[in-house]
Amino acid sequence: MKKVNLREKLSTEVFEAISECMKISEICGIKIYLVGGIVRDILLSKRLHDVDITVEGNAKEFVEILDCYIKTKSVKYNETLPTAKVVFSNGVEIDFASTRQEVYDNFGDLPRIVKTGCSLEEDIKRRDFTVNSLIVSLNKENLFELIDLTNGLEDLKNKKLRILHKKSFLDDPSRMIRGLKFAQRLNFTLEEETKKLQEEYLKNPLENIPLKRVEKEIVDLFSLNFASCFDEFVAQKLYKIFGVDFTEKITGFDLKMALFDYKIDENDIWRLYFLPVFSKSEIPPKTNLTVREKKIVENIHEFLKNKPIFEDNFSIFEYFKDKDYLSAIFYGIFINKKIAKKYFKNKNTKIEITGNDLINEGFEQGRIFSEIQTAVLKEKLNNGLKNKNEELDFVRKNYPNKR
Ligand code: CTP
Repeated sequence: MKKVNLREKLSTEVFEAISECMKISEICGIKIYLVGGIVRDILLSKRLHDVDITVEGNAKEFVEILDCYIKTKSVKYNETLPTAKVVFSNGVEIDFASTRQEVYDNFGDLPRIVKTGCSLEEDIKRRDFTVNSLIVSLNKENLFELIDLTNGLEDLKNKKLRILHKKSFLDDPSRMIRGLKFAQRLNFTLEEETKKLQEEYLKNPLENIPLKRVEKEIVDLFSLNFASCFDEFVAQKLYKIFGVDFTEKITGFDLKMALFDYKIDENDIWRLYFLPVFSKSEIPPKTNLTVREKKIVENIHEFLKNKPIFEDNFSIFEYFKDKDYLSAIFYGIFINKKIAKKYFKNKNTKIEITGNDLINEGFEQGRIFSEIQTAVLKEKLNNGLKNKNEELDFVRKNYPNKR
């Protein structure tokens, strides 16, 4: 059996934390394993994301014993799953999960745990791809041995993503998004049969499924910030998971370019790539999108339908001023970049004269104030009033009789 040199592959701190776990496992006789993405990434010599340990038995019981014997910074339990997150004294974070068996009552539903503390073999069956089902033993009798119950090592060598059974995408459609995420991140491709099953699913996608899990994967996928993620998402028709069609001619490159044209918050990158998917469709019923995201999509619908025409800087300002900044960026991507750029250039323009200045000029407080202030702003945006004096001159010239 192949052994994995964890000492060489892991940082000193992670190896230290894992060694502590191995000592406790030997003392209490509970078997533990490294499973999932960490094993895949160790074998590929990729940067490690999370450290996940599967406890053959009860993760809580194991972590309680661990917490008695060693100094930890913090321990948090999730009773429903059941899992535990431990921060070790050297700062390393490890997630512990009990082996579990899951069933899907209906295709697309969230899974229901039917048994915890099952065998490792049973636990592996609930996973997504063979390359994510590899295991490294942390137990004395077969220490650091690679356990490969699904032929994942072969797929890893061939850079293939293969699901474990035919109904996998029906059980959990988020796996198709995960597939694209891993394909893009690791430079892998879908194995033929897996690709066929995905295509079959997308020809006849489940309707009205809860999209929470899918959308979590969407955030991960599009946060990669690769233009190719969007292009492949469209080419593979993965938008059909959401029950929508996408026919716009925009590409991942167009969207990526927006990051050079405008200042975009890092947390909005996934929104930049994802929200255009709904440009022509109703937002699906069971989505987890926030009010803000829905509003941006409504704005896209509005300007694609009405194609507003702007006669000057002021009308651009008025149209976008109460909309999310991403809506203006999408206008730039879909319709007219020059207009969007103008908006961002002028967006923070403010007039300098105040209500007190107008009182000093002899105006009586009332509706006339906002009328004048809007007129000054319009003049400033369209013809450029340089300072407060020019603003006052404009007021004196245009409102001589209204005092
Ligand atoms: N998993 C799964 N199906 C899902 C989500 C997760 O089978 N829909 C399993 C996989 O075995 C995966 C493990 O749970 O490897 C851990 O999940 P996650 O942390 O999301 O995946 P990683 O492979 O660790 O991904 P990343 O490298 O992006 O953290």
